[in-house]
Amino acid sequence: MLKEKIQTALNKQIELEASSSQFYLAMASWSETIGLTGTSMFLYKHSDEERFHMLKLVKFVNERGGQALIPHISKPPTTFESLENIFKLLLEHELNVTDSINNIVDLCLQEKDYTTYNFMQWYVSEQLEEEALARTILDKLKLIGADKGGLYMFDRDLEILAKTLIIDSSK
Ligand code: FEO
Repeated sequence: MLKEKIQTALNKQIELEASSSQFYLAMASWSETIGLTGTSMFLYKHSDEERFHMLKLVKFVNERGGQALIPHISKPPTTFESLENIFKLLLEHELNVTDSINNIVDLCLQEKDYTTYNFMQWYVSEQLEEEALARTILDKLKLIGADKGGLYMFDRDLEILAKTLIIDSSK
């Protein structure tokens, strides 16, 4: 049975993952409307991944005898300043998610909930990958600057990357 404190923290994380999914969906849609097809494909995929992160938590909470709460999500932005702005926001958001996950891991140790502690290790590794990817993308965008040819290539690279991203629900 899940302790109340752990359940509350996991439900907060469910909300954070759901809002990540909506946030990236808004970014994907905006990118699509300005013709950045590859970027939008990547962000749609990223949004799906966040939904999967949320679902994984929902199932875990319910399987442990708790009750997962499906949250109300506030409306994400409808427009963004630039492509660089999108990936800056994405990295900032991921850093917040990492903090939140680390806090849950701390709480698990305090509460001696080693099952949830083990479960959360998957999220710890996932955050490492997601932060690294967001940083790499931002570095590329900084290199490209205002170069339109570079931007075209960047968008094509993200299309290729989006096609290789597989949401592994068996993990
Ligand atoms: Fe599920 Fe990117 O945090």
